[in-house]
Amino acid sequence: MTSLPGRPAPRVARVTRVDELTPDLIDEATSSLARLVADGAALGWVTPPDRVDVTALLRSVVEAGTQDACLVIAGDNTRFAGLGYWLRYARPTHRPHADIEKLAVSPDFQRRGVGRALLAALIGHARVESVEMLTLDFRGDNAGAESLYRSMGFAEYGRLRDFVAPDEHQRFDMVMHAIDLRKPTLVE
Ligand SMILES: CC(C)(COP(=O)(O)OP(=O)(O)OC[C@H]1O[C@@H](n2cnc3c(N)ncnc32)[C@H](O)[C@@H]1OP(=O)(O)O)[C@@H](O)C(=O)NCCC(=O)NCCS
Repeated sequence: MTSLPGRPAPRVARVTRVDELTPDLIDEATSSLARLVADGAALGWVTPPDRVDVTALLRSVVEAGTQDACLVIAGDNTRFAGLGYWLRYARPTHRPHADIEKLAVSPDFQRRGVGRALLAALIGHARVESVEMLTLDFRGDNAGAESLYRSMGFAEYGRLRDFVAPDEHQRFDMVMHAIDLRKPTLVE
């Protein structure tokens, strides 16, 4: 894991109560996610999310409960560094499994091991909650994310050509990865 000398990776914590979503945390998460999306990050938003969007999203994840959802936040003493979450599949026949819907690291904290730490936490909590398969998808041009996912044991199980449509003109592949948590792995 790459980390810059003298700048330890921020700690990662799971959020399990809505009152942990403080106004400062929501503000910082909003500005971080908005900046990432404005700079072209593939996070599922076409335009930068605002505070209302981010509040509703994070609340809904926490309110889903610890068996059905997991939100992890990275930060040091003063600053938000990134977040990730998974949601258990709602379809009755897919209930043993969960999907990582977002993983995002603030621009100022990237390449310091934060993304890897967030992903490791998401996997660890998934094991604790008896999730069997953890899935995710990403835009086909996101080489950094792909490298991170592969290094943590995820493998491609499908690809939809030209599926992601951020605007009228651009199309990107959607790449689907999964890790089977029923099998022992060497990572984590
Ligand atoms: C993808 C993302 C989460 C990675 O977070 P990060 O904290 O910068 O990543 P880490 O420092 O933990 O790096 C872990 C590994 O990811 C890979 N990686 C991360 N960024 C990379 C980049 N820009 N280019 C190539 N590989 C990269 C490397 O394999 C790296 O391992 P290494 O440092 O040992 O080489 C972050 O770049 C991000 O938030 N991007 C914008 C949002 C996004 O694309 N999210 C994923 C959507 S599916």
